Order: sequence, then C-alpha cells, then structure tokens
Amino acid sequence: MSAGPASATTGPGLRARQSPTGTGPASATGVDAFGIALRERVGSHWLVQADGVRRRLPVERWHGPAEAATAAVVARCHGPALDLGCGPGRLTAALARAGLAALGVDVCPRAVALTRARGAVAVRADLFDPLPAEGRWRHVVLLDGNIGIGGDPARLLRRCRELLHPDGTVLVEVDPPGSGAWQGRAHVVSGRRRGPSFGWARLDTRAVHGPATAAGLSVRDLRSAGGRWFAELAVA
Ligand SMILES: C[S@@+](CC[C@H](N)C(=O)[O-])C[C@H]1O[C@@H](n2cnc3c(N)ncnc32)[C@H](O)[C@@H]1O
Repeated sequence: MSAGPASATTGPGLRARQSPTGTGPASATGVDAFGIALRERVGSHWLVQADGVRRRLPVERWHGPAEAATAAVVARCHGPALDLGCGPGRLTAALARAGLAALGVDVCPRAVALTRARGAVAVRADLFDPLPAEGRWRHVVLLDGNIGIGGDPARLLRRCRELLHPDGTVLVEVDPPGSGAWQGRAHVVSGRRRGPSFGWARLDTRAVHGPATAAGLSVRDLRSAGGRWFAELAVA
C-alpha cells in the first residue's frame, strides 16, 4: 500500500481523512511525548516513571526494519490491521508488505511522516478520537509497550474493542512473566531534553488478564518471540 495523499484507502472499504502534511491540529487529549525521542535514531532515550524507574527506549529498533518478533505478529494477522501508536511505522509497513490493509495511527507528526516515508499509510490522531472503519478492523495491534498509552489499560482495551470487528483480535505486547504491573505518570528523557509528563502503564503476562476482562476481551493466546511476549485477545 502506498503513502496516501489527502485521502487514502486504509482498510475495510473506507477512506481515512488525512491532512496532506500529516501535521493536522493537535489532539485534545493525546500528548506528543515521544516526539523528542524520534529526532535521532541513536543516542540516549529513556522512559522515566514517576517512581524513579527508568527504562531505555529502543528507538534505534523503531527506526529499523521489522525484526523477527514483529514478523511473528504479522503472521497472526489475516485481515485489515490497525497499528496504534505506530511510531516510525516498521510494523505498519511490514503488515502492508504482507498484503494486508494496514493503517498506522500516531499522535506524533514526526512518527506519521516517517511511517509515510516507508510507503505505508498513517494518520495523525489520538487513538481515543474518532478513527476510520471503527468496528471493522480484524486486528488492532499494540506493540513496543503501547499497552501503556493513556495510563489505563482497561480503558485502552475498551477502545480497542470498539475499533475491532466482532471476530477480530487485539495483539498486544506485554512484559515478561513476573514483572508485574504499574500505572502512573512518566516522561521521556532524550539526551538532555525532557518531554512532558503523561499517563503510562505496564502489564506482564499475568496482569493483562484483568484489564482484558474489564474490556470484554479474553486472552486467547500467549507466546514469546525474540525474547518478548505477545498476547492475543478476542471478544469474550
Ligand atoms: C512506545 S512508542 C512505540 C513505538 C512504535 N510502536 C514503533 O514501532 O516505533 C509509543 C508511540 O505511541 C504514540 N502515542 C502515544 N499516545 C498516543 C495516543 N493517545 N494516540 C496515538 N498515538 C499515541 C507515541 O507518539 C509513540 O510514537
């Protein structure tokens, strides 16, 4: 699928409204907190939780080609797929290369521009705002810690369920077994720059069950690939 002009076919027969530049009006709720980390591929990029825990952000991986673990996610997809928080779009592009209708969604203008530069289709939007083809996506994907978006995994998974076709699945990367769950405020530190504070969360393989159930979903599959963990959630 090629990068769209002002409007691009995105999936189940609908067309996504896109600003030509991918720099439309800022969302009311989404914060472009990761934009500072997307300025440079290499360098020191950290997600810093309010409790002081720091995790290195694998920004170089986000800019790179799809890795083996991403290929395992693509292999689980059999229809139109929505890549929420697509970043520079390596997964969106890999889904499109696999012949699937794929749409990347990101609140960060730089992420949308980088995804389109890979030849994939992306829209700049807060995922909690209206999106194309709601209720018709066969897969909604949350990779690279994106279960943390918004800081409330049950709310995020409820939103995923709204976007999903009744027979669809949510593919979500979770933390390894035993690492538990966390919710709170966080910010990105990139080199000497500090980004704005935003709500974030982490869930491990066990902790994903609670928010999934709260959202009317159930864990259908749990597997590891490339040292990372992925859950597949279906409508309960
Ligand atoms: C941890 S990064 C994930 C990177 C990405 N999956 C990749 O392959 O490069 C989180 C991404 O989610 C985006 N994001 C955060 N909140 C969002 C929201 N409310 N709506 C849409 N995108 C959001 C950020 O801009 C960022 O690109």
